[in-house]
Amino acid sequence: MMDLVIPDKVHDESRQGEALLLEPKTESNGRKLYIESYGCAMNFSDSEIVASILAEKGFETTADYNVADVIFINTCSIRENAEQRVRNRLRDFTIAKVKNPGLVVGVLGCMAERLKSKFLEEEKLVDVVVGPDAYRDLPNLIEQVDGGQKAVNVLLSREETYADISPVRLNSNGINAFVSIMRGCDNMCSFCVVPFTRGRERSRDPQSIVAECAGLFDSGYREVTLLGQNVDSYKWKPENKQEQKTETEKPVLGMDLLDKVLASGEDLSVMYNHTVEEGDVTFANLLEMVALISPELRVRFSTSHPKDITDDVLYTIAKYDNICNYIHLPIQSGNSRVLKLMNRTYNREWYMDRVAAINRIIPNCAISTDIITGFCSETEEEHQDTLSIMDHVQFYFAYMFMYSERPGTLAAKRYADDIPDAIKKRRLQEVVAKQQEHSHERLKKLVGTTQRVLIEGFSKKSNKDYSGRSDQNTVVVFPVGEGYKPGEYVDVLIERCTTATLIGMAHSPQTSAN
Ligand code: 5AD
Ligand code: SF4
Repeated sequence: MMDLVIPDKVHDESRQGEALLLEPKTESNGRKLYIESYGCAMNFSDSEIVASILAEKGFETTADYNVADVIFINTCSIRENAEQRVRNRLRDFTIAKVKNPGLVVGVLGCMAERLKSKFLEEEKLVDVVVGPDAYRDLPNLIEQVDGGQKAVNVLLSREETYADISPVRLNSNGINAFVSIMRGCDNMCSFCVVPFTRGRERSRDPQSIVAECAGLFDSGYREVTLLGQNVDSYKWKPENKQEQKTETEKPVLGMDLLDKVLASGEDLSVMYNHTVEEGDVTFANLLEMVALISPELRVRFSTSHPKDITDDVLYTIAKYDNICNYIHLPIQSGNSRVLKLMNRTYNREWYMDRVAAINRIIPNCAISTDIITGFCSETEEEHQDTLSIMDHVQFYFAYMFMYSERPGTLAAKRYADDIPDAIKKRRLQEVVAKQQEHSHERLKKLVGTTQRVLIEGFSKKSNKDYSGRSDQNTVVVFPVGEGYKPGEYVDVLIERCTTATLIGMAHSPQTSAN
């Protein structure tokens, strides 16, 4: 499978497989943890939670798996190639295990949740399989393996948000941080495995989110990205209105839940829970609370779903200069029949209306997207609809993928994966070529303008240049100079561009995000 992306921070290709290093929190227990992550930003954020949980128990982190006592690999299931990558990576740990038979090898995250104990049968090297809601159990599970058993915990939860665990962020540049605000997804897009691997949607207490963001700001961070599979359905009920949870009620989640809904003949919309009542904290409210921490703190968020990005959210973005003018709004397809098969619950016209609302309420807002080519039964004309809506919107950038059937999903149950790979690939190439044109056109229009940039560090190519991002999330490169440094804002006059980068000269240091 081929995936093509124009990278940004949320799905940063260069971070795939990155190992995490933390300062030990408590007295060392003499054991070393090696943890590496794949997939989306949520997984990278989860690995920091895992490392924090084990640091409390005295584990130190190492960037060299050859000296580790515990190797964890935090996995992604979104497409088949993501899973293949993890399986290949596991082979690399075989020799380490032969050298150190006491070594614990664990698989965490979405692939662990999807395959459960089957993982232990398929990959003999693996000792522990742990799903995304069971990380608090890791110290016990490691003990179980120390006692000579294999260990599995893939229980999904309706409540776990790890709200009380403040992740330590040592791999970070100390300037931008990801803060997860919700977990799971109730959307049931027919192609997607996430509702099965990450369970039902639940939001984190807003006070703990604001406290984490304020703490980050106090320790020098200047940008937070609020993370969730579907941030616009963030919702927190006041304590007195929280649903009563009965201890005995066993939650039905994941694949089992889908089977139950399908068997009952109920509409899939029973999976959603989006009514907002008086007193609820919505995503628009949360954005405002975080924006008010300081005008010097930039606020970003990802991912928005076209069906529930409200005008309220758009007005909040427009109201606060430090909420960045950038929205990631996955479209998946430009054809209404395909969108219906995908169970996206919006059509082409709805998407165009949301784009019009963004352009009206937040002029100059950059929009990026996700596109899938060759979904079940997609015709050539329907593929053309995707190309034509791209012309209409002119996305700043896009993540573009060939459809990859995932076992257990609604599409796998209901539709044939009938578009040959060669056609999926050709359609993908057409989509990518168009996107490259649009990205370049968008950036060319910015030549001659001045962009406020949060400096993140030296550019990838040279330490004579700094690199940072504009409000609209475009990488800007300019010469290192007197009077400004990483973590500060500077106005940059854009002189030229490539297809993905703006290049210019710094004017003057600035104190606020806009
Ligand atoms: N095949 C291809 N792409 C997928 N995505 C999710 N599931 C699949 C799949 N089965 C893409 C969607 C989503 C992004 C995170 O990954 O575009 O928005
Ligand atoms: Fe998957 Fe759709 Fe949920 Fe995104 S919104 S995680 S594509 S089910």
